[in-house]
Amino acid sequence: MKPQKVAIVTGAGQGIGLEIARKLLITGSHVILNDLEKGLTEEAVASLSQLGKGAVLGCSGDSSSGEVISEIIDLAMHHFGSVDQVVANAGITLFGNFLDYSREDFFEVTRINQAGSFFLTQAAARIMKGQPNGGSILLTSSVTAHQSHENLAAYAMSKAAVEMLAKNLVIELAPLGIRINTIAPGATLTERTTSDPNYVSTWSRLTPLGRPANTTDIAEAAAFLLSDAARHITGQSLIVDGGWTSISPSPYG
Ligand SMILES: NC(=O)c1ccc[n+]([C@@H]2O[C@H](COP(=O)([O-])OP(=O)(O)OC[C@H]3O[C@@H](n4cnc5c(N)ncnc54)[C@H](O)[C@@H]3O)[C@@H](O)[C@H]2O)c1
Repeated sequence: MKPQKVAIVTGAGQGIGLEIARKLLITGSHVILNDLEKGLTEEAVASLSQLGKGAVLGCSGDSSSGEVISEIIDLAMHHFGSVDQVVANAGITLFGNFLDYSREDFFEVTRINQAGSFFLTQAAARIMKGQPNGGSILLTSSVTAHQSHENLAAYAMSKAAVEMLAKNLVIELAPLGIRINTIAPGATLTERTTSDPNYVSTWSRLTPLGRPANTTDIAEAAAFLLSDAARHITGQSLIVDGGWTSISPSPYG
């Protein structure tokens, strides 16, 4: 029997991260679930604890902090003895037009989205390089890394950066048996996005497949990239957007 994989998912108290954690548990991994909010971390762990063949443990805190990253890795190693699948999913969106955008917002987006992904990947790769089966890393990007979206210059830049990080790290990580990819969701229904009452109707109109994504659409693609079925895929970005980035505004309205 194959040993159970050990997964880490950040920003997983709700939304896309929670659904990826659920999917990985169902497919047999043990999961360390992180969220900035202690209450959300505890609720998420409680809601997933009876689900899968694996165990789920929580570790709350800012996933861009070096101490929290060490805590998460130590928890995985102490309880399960390996780190096989890592999802740097925690990310924040701070909207604002470019000419007025504040330095505080810019550095906050950069710290969490970019530095958080970079240093979690570094800590995980340091463990994975000594494992016989290496490991698989997934960074959560966004369609905004591929197509312009108003008021999201800093966010888009941070997501394009994580895509380039994944490509660049193929050089250092492929020889160690570590794969690294990104997933780029389009408009996705989460607690945050659906606080806008027009979200479903707006994105149903704009999306070629006729609806925004739900978190399961994203989690299933993420689980594929993390699984052995994707064993020859590294340095890639998988866009899951119902076709939104494939089209441009039509002259016919
Ligand atoms: N929802 C979308 O439409 C969409 C589209 C494209 C990309 N994304 C990306 O997907 C990822 C998840 O998005 P979502 O919409 O599910 O997120 P969300 O805003 O619903 O947040 C998910 C969780 O992340 C936690 N979080 C925030 N900052 C954190 C930090 N520093 N450390 C640990 N946890 C933190 C929050 O507490 C929250 O519970 C993000 O990287 C986001 O940029 C989302």
